Amino acid sequence: MGNRRIEISSGQIEEQLDICAQIRAMAGEKRLAMVDTYGCQQNEADSEQLRGYLFAMGYGQTSDENQADIVVINTCAVREHAEMRVLGNIGALTHTKKENPDQIIVVCGCMAAEKNIVEKIKKSYGIVDLMFAPSELWRFPELLKTVIEGKRRVFELGGDATVAEGIPHLRTDGVKAWLSVMNGCNNFCTYCIVPYTRFRERSRRPESIIAEARELVSQGYREITLLGQNVNSYGNDLDCGVSFAQLIRDIDAIDGDFVIRFMTSHPKDATEELFAAMRDCKKCEKHLHLPLQSGSDRILKAMNRRYDSAKYLGLVDKLREYIPDVVLTTDIIVGFPGETDEDFEDTMRVVERVRYDAMFTFIYSKRAGTPAAAMDDPFTREEKQLHFDRLIEVQNAISEEKHGAYIGKTERVLIDGRDREKGVLTGRTIGGRLVRVPADDSLIGHFAGVEITDCNTWALRGKLV
Ligand code: SAH
Ligand code: SF4
Ligand code: F3S
Repeated sequence: MGNRRIEISSGQIEEQLDICAQIRAMAGEKRLAMVDTYGCQQNEADSEQLRGYLFAMGYGQTSDENQADIVVINTCAVREHAEMRVLGNIGALTHTKKENPDQIIVVCGCMAAEKNIVEKIKKSYGIVDLMFAPSELWRFPELLKTVIEGKRRVFELGGDATVAEGIPHLRTDGVKAWLSVMNGCNNFCTYCIVPYTRFRERSRRPESIIAEARELVSQGYREITLLGQNVNSYGNDLDCGVSFAQLIRDIDAIDGDFVIRFMTSHPKDATEELFAAMRDCKKCEKHLHLPLQSGSDRILKAMNRRYDSAKYLGLVDKLREYIPDVVLTTDIIVGFPGETDEDFEDTMRVVERVRYDAMFTFIYSKRAGTPAAAMDDPFTREEKQLHFDRLIEVQNAISEEKHGAYIGKTERVLIDGRDREKGVLTGRTIGGRLVRVPADDSLIGHFAGVEITDCNTWALRGKLV
């Protein structure tokens, strides 16, 4: 399932937009939609398309589910905790639907591609009217129309790896934009659900991506984040001769003052060609998010990551030859089935050798249908938690030291929003580190020179220079 690449034609998207106009005429004006997004940036990008369609259907936006005529929950399936949270929040909508029986409830995103979840929702969550997998997002208007006209529930699991151009986007942030370059994943890491929910890798055509980047720059966006589950395999499914590194170079060549960010890079496909592009392209961030997952070769093999710790460390050394002060971040899973104390010590050794700027740590979560779910998992949650806590403690000390080294330096920072603290704005360095800086709101959307004066584990603080 999910193997076949299907390109949705522009005519098919036109039809969906016609349906949007019909819904707009049918249901009248002054209706509100709430879109609630969980999970990764890919889902954030998808939510912009959901909002784009909803806007074309005549819906305004709200963040209050009591006001909403339609609630769209864009879900994530990557860990059990995320799923429980979503199910809890769907359950809570029983109250809003009781108040407003015409309210339409839509569940999409990765959970909507999981058979067991779809069955659960069908059976136990009668308030949900429509559910569709990420591959079916392009026909959201048509599915919604069936619900409205037929007054019946619709469930669409999807089956093909679709690629669609021309779905409208509604971006709400005027500074930072997500730009999806590909969808899906071919890697089948044994713990991971994503290949089952997003189907196989398919790249958008380079000319579509570059045209969209150009449009974003002309609209004044200052940060473009290129998205894919494994951007380093961009283009492998197309016969276009454009690699991800080339794509960065092509976007870098667009006139304008903006920064290019990207995620995620799989170590098995990271190349010197990419490092050279990162070094050469003035607009490209000097930051690589390179998920390690584990430092134990035995566990990496069981995870089907297709690299070992030596190859990973070799990549890091090579990257630092190209860009000595590159910012490196990573993801690590603690407590993969069968991970022993020795395996964990191997991870600690890599972490202390690489000295990441920041790390996202997860305790292994069993995902039904993945190969790891059938593996022997003899260690207790408490044992895993001890490893987890130790890893975080060591990493926090490293992060703090690394941040400390910024003090006294002046960084070029893209100011992107307001902090919770009054009179303080937030921004990111070219390496992607978070900076807080007291400044006037008029600076939002501009690059500024910031002298770093203070820091903690997670962020830098500075003053305008
Ligand atoms: N495509 C990206 C990862 C997407 S998921 C990559 O390959 O790096 C984001 C992170 O969630 C992963 O890097 C991994 O660390 C974590 N993750 C994925 N599945 C998980 C699971 N079953 N349990 C715990 N963490 C998981
Ligand atoms: Fe999941 Fe691995 Fe694909 Fe990342 S590369 S999305 S961890 S299967
Ligand atoms: Fe979650 Fe799907 Fe992204 S499972 S992490 S929303 S690809």
